[in-house]
Amino acid sequence: VRNGIEFAVADLSLAEFGRKEIRLAEHEMPGLMALRREYAEVYPLRGARISGSLHMTVQTAVLIETLVALGAEVRWASCNIFSTQDHAAAAIVVGPHGTPEEPKGVPVFAWKGETLPEYWACTNLMLTWPDGSGPNMILDDGGDATLLVHKGVEYEKAGAVPATDDNDPEEWQVLLDLLRRSLEADAGKWTKLAPGIRGVTEETTTGVLRLYQLAAQGELLFPAINVNDSVTKSKFDNRYGCRHSLIDGINRATDVLIGGKVAVVCGYGDVGKGCAESLRGQGARVIVTEIDPICALQAAMDGYQVATLDDVLEQADIIISATGNKDIVTVEHMARMKHQAILGNIGHFDNELDMAGLARYPGVRRINIKPQVDEWVFPDGHSIIVLSEGRLLNLGNATGHPSFVMSNSFANQVIAQIELFTRHGEYDKEVYRLPKKLDEKVARIHVEALGGKLTKLTKEQAEYIGVDPEGPFKPEHYRY
Ligand code: NAI
Repeated sequence: VRNGIEFAVADLSLAEFGRKEIRLAEHEMPGLMALRREYAEVYPLRGARISGSLHMTVQTAVLIETLVALGAEVRWASCNIFSTQDHAAAAIVVGPHGTPEEPKGVPVFAWKGETLPEYWACTNLMLTWPDGSGPNMILDDGGDATLLVHKGVEYEKAGAVPATDDNDPEEWQVLLDLLRRSLEADAGKWTKLAPGIRGVTEETTTGVLRLYQLAAQGELLFPAINVNDSVTKSKFDNRYGCRHSLIDGINRATDVLIGGKVAVVCGYGDVGKGCAESLRGQGARVIVTEIDPICALQAAMDGYQVATLDDVLEQADIIISATGNKDIVTVEHMARMKHQAILGNIGHFDNELDMAGLARYPGVRRINIKPQVDEWVFPDGHSIIVLSEGRLLNLGNATGHPSFVMSNSFANQVIAQIELFTRHGEYDKEVYRLPKKLDEKVARIHVEALGGKLTKLTKEQAEYIGVDPEGPFKPEHYRY
């Protein structure tokens, strides 16, 4: 605590650098800046206590300061142990008008390179407001904040936290351990906190999947808005964001020439499409793996070979997992990969790659090359290069998506926060999407910022295709 502000970040003296990058990012985030102008002096988030769990980057800093400009109080943690940009975290704690000695910003609990126990401790601190109250809104990416609250309530009701065993993933063991201690120290904490939460807005595919599962089981404790499936989020951030940040991560990590190499992309959803395009753009020969025939056909029509990982493993110089599913690259696969082939994951959780299996592989040796880059040497002498310990490499090895694309995603986040905070009474404990009109509004701002000029429908044309001249321009079932 300094100057009344709680925080746990790497180094507050990085704040000045962070502030300079935030200033540049603001110009590249016209969606967020337009919302600041639209709601100046209206403060629709006045009274909102937002607990946010989302990669603590420069772009997120602009999001946080937008929420504050709209009246919210905010506490923040990162949703990944490697994704924090320490200068952005410092700048947010210090705030635009503070100094490292006298910070005046927002409580942040995040630094690059947290351990798992530190990660969950930060998530817990971000959800624990100093006066003993909790948040009344959650802004989540991947669902860990939502998971902590739901598991807390579940185990408090049961009166105990289940025992862990050695076969559980480490992440799960650490979470249960935290909840066990929380139950001992402050029984009833989560049961008290949950009813105060008006809703959660969720950023990514994986978190949204968890929310729909909770809702289907009737276990969702508060309404949720699925921000990911706003068209201006998933069809832009997941795709064009990864098109930018995948090769950024590979280059910063390895500086290996991508042209001429064989790259396998597992999964051809929104993220996979952007990854495949970026690797092809560098001159790689790209092979796609898919389980879904529709996405597989898209890949084929886009000119990629569609194959199974088993069939092409030995040819691959680079393998990227982009599925949001688990067990995509097994340790048996890893053992068969080419010497010094690069393995990375860009999906939300590290369980896409069997990192635990790799660590247990008989005779395997790990040589750390630099932070977030490891060479794993097999007993036969050949090795593979694993990025960010199997966690999302674009945020671990590089700086994630650039500002402009995140402006689309985060404009949706802010709109969703305003919606759930101000009109929570109109929502059930279900998962909702934002109306298409708001999606179009976000897109319009960004088209104009890029110097594009939209064609206006005439009244006759609008009638002919059966839409309002002001939009929405497409039916709900349209897929873009
Ligand atoms: P998506 O659902 O559009 O695509 C995933 C694709 O993987 C689907 O087409 C699915 O059929 C395929 N798939 C599933 N199991 C597979 C298997 N065993 N083998 C091959 N393909 C398989 O999801 P999206 O939006 O592309 O997201 C993927 C992951 O990336 C999610 O975990 C999401 O949260 C994460 N994400 C990461 C970002 C980043 O910056 N690193 C940005 C946005 C999303």
